[in-house]
Amino acid sequence: MFFSPSISAAICSGIVCFSIVGSTSVVPSPPSCQVNMDGPAAQQQVLRHISAGEAVPAEALHPLWSALPPLSVSEAIGTYRGGYFDGGKKPSPINWFGKQIASENAVNPLLCHPPGPTNGTVNKDVIFPYPRKDIARARNVEHQGVVTATIIYNKVPLMDYFRVVRPGKDLLILGKSDWNGSLAEPAYFWLERVEGVEIKFDVTNPMVKGNVTIKHIDFAEKD
Ligand SMILES: *[C@@H]1O[C@H](CO)[C@@H](O)[C@H](O)[C@H]1NC(C)=O
Ligand SMILES: *[C@@H]1O[C@H](CO)[C@@H](O)[C@H](O)[C@H]1NC(C)=O
Ligand SMILES: *[C@@H]1O[C@H](CO)[C@@H](O)[C@H](O)[C@H]1NC(C)=O
Repeated sequence: MFFSPSISAAICSGIVCFSIVGSTSVVPSPPSCQVNMDGPAAQQQVLRHISAGEAVPAEALHPLWSALPPLSVSEAIGTYRGGYFDGGKKPSPINWFGKQIASENAVNPLLCHPPGPTNGTVNKDVIFPYPRKDIARARNVEHQGVVTATIIYNKVPLMDYFRVVRPGKDLLILGKSDWNGSLAEPAYFWLERVEGVEIKFDVTNPMVKGNVTIKHIDFAEKD
């Protein structure tokens, strides 16, 4: 989702799909990409994947993504906990918690927990914006011919497009990450809006400075 460009991308537009490998060749995509699923069925399927906590390959999420309805930035305002479709196997190097869209110009896409008091532990009582506050914006952007709420990172060539999995107060959205025109790795993640989360904007990033030895990612340095 965040950190490295992938070498391939599948673009599904209505019934026509292509896989773009590198930037030079266009080859037909697998048939699964061509399923025309309706929105409610896609929403149910994504909800099942999330509640099962199972690993889901990007190829299986492409047609689901395309079938989901969009939302606007004003509807997407909120603080979210999030997750990947990796079956819970990969620990996050930055203890990622979720994202916050406070307003069009105040977006915290990497809400994280700091390390705990001993090596290898996580302090889940604290949530802070990594690497710092407001490193992104939110705009309504067209993707696959549909205008939808999108996080645009200010200093890296990354955008996260969103579609609705479950509408309402406990909004749940599916994010798709576009790194410089290709799918990022991981390509998809989910966000569930949560109430009452306090973000400590005054926490000095403990993952970058001091004696705490957590490997931080390139993102922080670039941003
Ligand atoms: C923390 O743990 C990692 C691996 O678990 C290890 O490589 C590292 O040396 C440890 N750091 C300290 C300060 O103990
Ligand atoms: C973005 O993509 C272009 C064209 O594929 C490539 O030349 C450039 O190095 C990429 N930039 C980044 C930051 O990934
Ligand atoms: C790291 O720890 C050493 C020894 O405990 C201390 O002298 C030093 O000031 C610490 N450095 C930082 C940046 O906190």
